[in-house]
Amino acid sequence: MLKSKTILLGVSGGIAVYKAVELLRLLTKAGATVHVVMTRSACEFVTPLTFQTLSGHPVHTELFNLYQEQEIGHISLADRADLFILAPATANLIGKIAQGLADDLLTTTVMATKAPVLIVPAMNTNMYENPLYQRNEKALREVGYHLLDPVDGELACGWTGQGKMPDPQDIIAAAEDILTSKDLTGCRILVSAGPTREEIDPVRYLTNYSSGRMGFAIAAAARRRGAKVTLVAGPVQLTPPAEVEILAVVSAQQMHDVILDCFDAADVVIKAAAVADYRPQIRQQQKVKKMADDMILELEKTPDILAELGRRKKRQILVGFAAETEKLLEHATQKLISKNLDMIVANDVSAPGAGFDVDTNIVRFLYPDGRVEDLELMSKTEVADQLLDRVRLAWQKHE
Ligand code: PMT
Repeated sequence: MLKSKTILLGVSGGIAVYKAVELLRLLTKAGATVHVVMTRSACEFVTPLTFQTLSGHPVHTELFNLYQEQEIGHISLADRADLFILAPATANLIGKIAQGLADDLLTTTVMATKAPVLIVPAMNTNMYENPLYQRNEKALREVGYHLLDPVDGELACGWTGQGKMPDPQDIIAAAEDILTSKDLTGCRILVSAGPTREEIDPVRYLTNYSSGRMGFAIAAAARRRGAKVTLVAGPVQLTPPAEVEILAVVSAQQMHDVILDCFDAADVVIKAAAVADYRPQIRQQQKVKKMADDMILELEKTPDILAELGRRKKRQILVGFAAETEKLLEHATQKLISKNLDMIVANDVSAPGAGFDVDTNIVRFLYPDGRVEDLELMSKTEVADQLLDRVRLAWQKHE
């Protein structure tokens, strides 16, 4: 998402400047080219050398510095940016921008840019609540600047309240959001993720290795692209993506009931969950005691949710996943046809870097007309975007 993007990072003077260093590191790690502009007071907290070393580019501090202007002038900086992030943004900086002032390099560059601007305020909580500050913030939002809310917590000045700069990861997520085209606006997508748990007794259950990462990546990417997303998740240890409706379930039966309830309202269903195929026939009320050397656990089939959706579907686009350890194409094709899907994502979960509980995946997209698309090893977020590119085309055809 941030790969090959040019980001201008404007840093103004507050204790949170140290967090801007981590933000810069994450931006460059994500493949962005970052140019840093610092105010004089920001240089009092962290030296420009730190930002220069991490960005690999000279840091810009002075409006009237002939050497810096010759290297790359402030108008050129403003022009080449895909996104301008101001982090941390002090009350003073925000006040100046809101008044249209341009009296140093940073404010002049903000004034000159046509790129979207993401402002990340950080300040004392009383300053943040001050009506004059709030008026400035409102004025900036009204003319199209993007602002992140500061978070609650203990502030460096000793106060506790709202005013802390959000975590760099959250700033990156907001930046990605701004840079993403909203090509799924109006599309309602139902995603399933994670494993299910089938209880044997009050202390034991049957499950699998699904972490939920694949489904969560799809939900987050779809939301970023403007879709209205409902995520039905089995038991996972992940932070839910922002602005996604989360419906938590435990067993295959619960996942079945919740998904069927949501089905009519969905335009697209993507089933990345690893649903148990079998559950114990009887769930024991008390802990099963160790007695004989052998024990037989009688299992019964769980409802096949996707197959049922395939039978019921009218206008919905139905995407399944196939987790296989052998005969990938053969087994995935059989599921694609028998469950009446529009597409299936086949992953060989025995391949290194693919499948359960890793950040990457290697997948093949299979279609009912026999087409197969092979994707290389990539992050689950990239797989999600590739998948949603195909889903968007199918959804637009349906519209
Ligand atoms: O969660 P991660 O750690 O990120 O791992 C990702 C993943 C490996 C779980 C994911 O990429 C994946 O392959 N998900 C599907 C796993 C699976 O259960 O595959 P399956 O071949 O058993 O099922 C085929 C399809 O039918 C799946 O879409 C499944 O959700 C669905 N199904 C299966 C059984 C059942 N009772 N009801 C279903 O709806």
